Amino acid sequence: MNTEYPSPAGPRPDKHDHATLTGDTWAVHGGNRTDETTGAIRTPIVMANSYRLPADPAGLAEGDPDLLVYTRESGANQLGLQDKLARAEHGEAAAVFSTGMAALHGALFTILSPGDHVIASDVLYGGTFDLFSSLLPEKMGIEVDFVDITDPDAVRAAIRPSTRLIHTEVVGNPDPKVADIAVLARIAHEHDALLSVDSTFTPPPLVRPLEHGVDLVIHSLTKYINGHGDAMGGAVIGSRELVDAIKYGALHHVGGAIAPFNAWLIMRGSLTLPLRLQRHCENAQAVAEFLAADPRVAHVAYPGLTGDPHHAAASVQLSGGYGGVVSFTLAGDPADRVRFIEDLRLITPAVSLGHDETLIAYEAYPPERAAGFSQPFREHGLIRLAIGLESSQDLIADLDAALTTVYGPAA
Ligand SMILES: Cc1ncc(COP(=O)(O)O)c(C=O)c1O
Repeated sequence: MNTEYPSPAGPRPDKHDHATLTGDTWAVHGGNRTDETTGAIRTPIVMANSYRLPADPAGLAEGDPDLLVYTRESGANQLGLQDKLARAEHGEAAAVFSTGMAALHGALFTILSPGDHVIASDVLYGGTFDLFSSLLPEKMGIEVDFVDITDPDAVRAAIRPSTRLIHTEVVGNPDPKVADIAVLARIAHEHDALLSVDSTFTPPPLVRPLEHGVDLVIHSLTKYINGHGDAMGGAVIGSRELVDAIKYGALHHVGGAIAPFNAWLIMRGSLTLPLRLQRHCENAQAVAEFLAADPRVAHVAYPGLTGDPHHAAASVQLSGGYGGVVSFTLAGDPADRVRFIEDLRLITPAVSLGHDETLIAYEAYPPERAAGFSQPFREHGLIRLAIGLESSQDLIADLDAALTTVYGPAA
């Protein structure tokens, strides 16, 4: 799981200097500062709406988005988290928001103008799908084509002179299609467009999209980066120029700022991100293999399965695992799928993912939303398992017992 930065024979490690650190050290120390007033070795939660100004503020660095003035734009806890995330993704700058959707909205409403055209993946988280299918076209006059993002020819064919942005998730939610982000970046840049990717399912060290040519990485911090299901947040990471424009356009003008307490909670949760991801991935692999081998299960989609159509694309781009979300479905009467979920005793029915505990959600998606899903999910609905940190043996036993209650023992 460790990702090498500079060689260990390189400079002496300094916890404040990302360039000197290897492996997971930045996850532990990144963005944290000793408090100068108290000497506390953790950045305290700074619950203040404003920061002291000089008597004459005219001399303040014009346009410095990291200046501490007003918490809607920047606060001490936000700055630390931004610094941590920017370096973790090997980007120049980051902006944090109240939720992942606020981050997406902030990025899209800053980058796009009326008349622009967007190519969006045909598998996207529901909130993002709604932004592209309703809000952007209806409120901003933006044209959107949903395309199979795993087919470069289809993406090329959808390009128009007005195409300003290609947007995808690295691993799609809820059908885990895997985009080849280096190819998409090349296509976007050949046509003077930008590529934004939502990497919520694949935080570092699984992949660092900016290294593959992506212009903007977006995260729902609510998921793996916080990791404990108790605070919401979002982030955009990229070049200083692009991130500053989003900070100014979205945080300063529209709001959507994260609360200092939530930024602090997410910072604390992120200390163990690499360790947790390793466990999420190992558990997901074991559960996916169990489901794929079970004749009662109609279809399983997980890029870590060697037979999965996206295994090759995932293996080239991801390091250390294939993420923590396993999607599957059960054939037959929809009521059986509901009974199966009702019978679970360890796994909790709830939306979201990246929590410490395993969550499950069943949905029969409307045709317009499911157009890009694989056929069994269009036909039988999709059960999304957001694998947690329990023992995989217990998770498999719970799934097996509930399958037996509804469908009888595996043949
Ligand atoms: C891939 C993805 N992106 C964005 C979001 C939105 O994040 P949030 O719930 O923090 O607004 C979600 C939420 O589930 C998601 O799964």
